[in-house]
Amino acid sequence: MIIRLTLRRIGLGLAALLLGGLLVGWSGVIYVGASGGHWPVTEWFLHWVMRNSVRTRALALEVPDLSGPALLDRGAGHYATGCAPCHGAPGERQNPIVQASLPPPPEFSKRFDPWKPEELFRIVQHGVRYSGMPAWVAIERHDEIWAMVAFLEKLPRMPQDEYQRLAFGPEGARQPSSGLIGIGAINTGGPAPPAQEALADCARCHGMDGRGRENDAFPVLAGQSEAYLREALLAFSHGTRHSGLMQPPAARADDAILGQIATHYARQPFAPVPHPPAETALLEEGERIARQGIPAEGVPACLSCHGGAALARNPSYPALHGQHASYLENQLVQWQAGTRGGGPYRDLMGTIAGRLSPEQNKAVAAWFARQDKASD
Ligand code: HEC
Ligand code: HEC
Ligand code: HEC
Repeated sequence: MIIRLTLRRIGLGLAALLLGGLLVGWSGVIYVGASGGHWPVTEWFLHWVMRNSVRTRALALEVPDLSGPALLDRGAGHYATGCAPCHGAPGERQNPIVQASLPPPPEFSKRFDPWKPEELFRIVQHGVRYSGMPAWVAIERHDEIWAMVAFLEKLPRMPQDEYQRLAFGPEGARQPSSGLIGIGAINTGGPAPPAQEALADCARCHGMDGRGRENDAFPVLAGQSEAYLREALLAFSHGTRHSGLMQPPAARADDAILGQIATHYARQPFAPVPHPPAETALLEEGERIARQGIPAEGVPACLSCHGGAALARNPSYPALHGQHASYLENQLVQWQAGTRGGGPYRDLMGTIAGRLSPEQNKAVAAWFARQDKASD
């Protein structure tokens, strides 16, 4: 018997399939529990699709230079609280609750598939749908995601003591936080106890003294005004300033505690950071922009807001002197890309940064980094 295919019959067939699907879904026979796992064929199929998707979407990506200790410090610092609770870490076992999820996150000290750096970037940036693997909190912050990739590349061969030094800081500010091991607060002699525990989290990356690490992984907080620090923290916590590294720790503490931590860091003695060599011509250009601005481009003198007198007048403006040049430059780049955000005065700076060229970013950042006090 020959059944002639007509549009009407195809339509009816599809409608019957749809109805059948709805009936099966409605009947409740499909098992959605996480116990028991997938059939091997389902598991193979899901991973095959995931791998192909990641590989194809990573094709156009260019891998930047991933060497240098600062990237490892940033990646490890975030991994300890953002990833280790699911993936485990050197010396930290995976929690049995996590192992009972479907699919279970791979425990990286036991299984780490040979992904290329650009593929890791895609996975960390966008996460994996239907698996519990989250996307990066600020997906537009490519610089942060590459730092995580640099760390992941080293993770499978990383000894426990190196991991702990990178993730918890040279002061060993806090115990690992995998959920199997309790979170220990340290006695800081500073703010009240609830703030101490939150501060111990900050100190892993910024140090108790707010000077960060020996390298330029983290911005200097010591001696920055209390008002600016508080507004920056609230901006991270409420999502108007974008950073996958800073939004989570800021959101872990409530607003009152963030205020106490801002007071703590504002009281730490300021000490300028060591700065890399820079050419005289570059520094001269930087000084010119800082003192006079670029009138032809409508750029005001930076010191009219970031100089000593202006800082005393409006403590919500940040001090730039003695800050890491790489940090200052990167903030300008983030504004230019539309990804910085910030506190209540962020639009002022967004407009100004938008008028600087990459060379001018570099020059003015290098000049400010070398100043050990606020000039007017
Ligand atoms: C809530 C738990 C959870 C958190 C938090 C989490 N992941 Fe995952 N991750 C998963 C799961 C589940 C998978 C497995 C996905 C799959 O099988 O397709 C996964 C897969 C991955 C993979 C691919 C591994 C492979 O070989 O298939 C990488 C890489 C990865 N995660 C990195 C990270 C990083 C980096 C972080 C922190 C920024 C992180 N994950 C945070 C649950 C998590
Ligand atoms: C995982 C490491 C890490 C932890 C933990 C961390 N920070 Fe940060 N912090 C950073 C990085 C990286 C930046 C730079 C963010 C950027 O590039 O936008 C930063 C930026 C900041 C800034 C903005 C500085 C400026 O000049 O604008 C403040 C303020 C700050 N952190 C305070 C804190 C406080 C308070 C805590 C604890 C509640 C904390 N941080 C926890 C890594 C960390
Ligand atoms: C009209 C006042 C004003 C002028 C002029 C100004 N800024 Fe700013 N700048 C701000 C404010 C306000 C912020 C804080 C924005 C926020 O995070 O909410 C800021 C933040 C910054 C930051 C980020 C600091 C940090 O710790 O994250 C950099 C870098 C910066 N400015 C560079 C410059 C440079 C370079 C110039 C000159 C070309 C300049 N600014 C001129 C007001 C100004």
